[in-house]
Amino acid sequence: MTQHLTVVEHPLVQHKLSIMRNKDTSTASFRQLLREISHLLAYEVTRDLPLSNVRIETPLCEMDAPMIEGKKLALVSILRAGNGLLDGILELIPAARVGFIGLYRDEETLQPVQYYNKLPANMEDRVTILVDPMLATGNSSAAAVDLVKASGAKEIRFLCLLAAPEGVARMKEAHPDVPIVTASLDQKLNEKGYIVPGLGDAGDRMFGTK
Ligand code: URA
Repeated sequence: MTQHLTVVEHPLVQHKLSIMRNKDTSTASFRQLLREISHLLAYEVTRDLPLSNVRIETPLCEMDAPMIEGKKLALVSILRAGNGLLDGILELIPAARVGFIGLYRDEETLQPVQYYNKLPANMEDRVTILVDPMLATGNSSAAAVDLVKASGAKEIRFLCLLAAPEGVARMKEAHPDVPIVTASLDQKLNEKGYIVPGLGDAGDRMFGTK
């Protein structure tokens, strides 16, 4: 991918996102829409994956059929909200390998601290898609990319539902080589670090917690 930030403006994505933003949308609908939108975002983030031909035999004849090249993709979910995007993407790319990164924010330093990190083997040979619905300050996203890079991954993409300008700038500064795909670049962060207009706490909305 050449662009640092891609906003997926497809009408289906925008329509579903608007329903998700609505505070009156139920947990069940939010979850279903997240699943649907993750298919559409996955389509966009994988758009330029290289293909190579493999010789196969159809019921009629032999042919050179295009298949995605190289090792299986790695999908890495940033807990817990990343799992909502992950489930939908796995429906589209069921053979992908999956990793999880858990980070919490130290309330004194405000810096992300790792509490879980389990990644697939051979990360250096895989295209890695990091998923987290909300790119807010960018601190935990940048830290997650640090961990994925430390595992050897070289080609990394970041997929989110909403991005704040502050988070995009932080990622560009820390990881200019990691393209971001999102459904919307929102206006700003508020004083509590929430994306505005946003959709609230993505984890709470998808899991029905508060
Ligand atoms: N995380 C969320 O879930 N929502 C925001 O608005 C920002 C970070």
